[in-house]
Amino acid sequence: MKFFIDTANLEEIKQANELGILDGVTTNPSLMAKEGITGEKNILKHYTDICKIVDGPVSAEVISTNYNDIIKEGKNLSKLHKNIVVKVPMISEGLKAIKYFSLNGIKTNCTLVFSAGQALIAAKAGATYISPFLGRLDDISSSGIDLIGQIRHIYDNYNFKTEILAASIRHPMHIINCAELGADVATCPLKAIKDLLNHPLTDIGLDKFLKDYAKGNS
Ligand code: G3P
Repeated sequence: MKFFIDTANLEEIKQANELGILDGVTTNPSLMAKEGITGEKNILKHYTDICKIVDGPVSAEVISTNYNDIIKEGKNLSKLHKNIVVKVPMISEGLKAIKYFSLNGIKTNCTLVFSAGQALIAAKAGATYISPFLGRLDDISSSGIDLIGQIRHIYDNYNFKTEILAASIRHPMHIINCAELGADVATCPLKAIKDLLNHPLTDIGLDKFLKDYAKGNS
């Protein structure tokens, strides 16, 4: 399973990259705004800065909602860097744009996916990735993880190449459950990635090893 970080914070991206397990980055307009990155020029520069840190797919989201503008915006984004993946919302105009991009060699991430039907139709259109939002489904008492299993099953039935990019991940169990079910990618906040590392028995064990070493060498 590939690990992406879900943030526009350059420091967090650097930290995750330094761990040596980072495969890519996803962003969205809310994550950009959280970092105070506003205005088209600044946003485009920020994508380029992210691409300089991580050598892997970087999702850049369109804010247009009609076909022609999505195409224009997506083409501009894709010209920024070879690793840019154009993130397109799961709406009918977006679906048509995904089809266009897939026929023209531009990689896409179909975002705001909340159902198996949406995932199926995005794969039919040729999306490179689809982003089911686990946490937001859990927030409304619907199982995000069950959706990952359902999409995996459907894609495997027909050998769809579209990658399942599990998004809106909130904690390490989401990541582990995604790995069990065969999600291709999990895009996670830095904290969820770091939390995978922790185990109290590791800390206790290391403490004892170091103390025993010190006793033998004193
Ligand atoms: O990037 C999309 C997704 O990961 C958003 O997550 O936590 O805002 O539901 P969240």
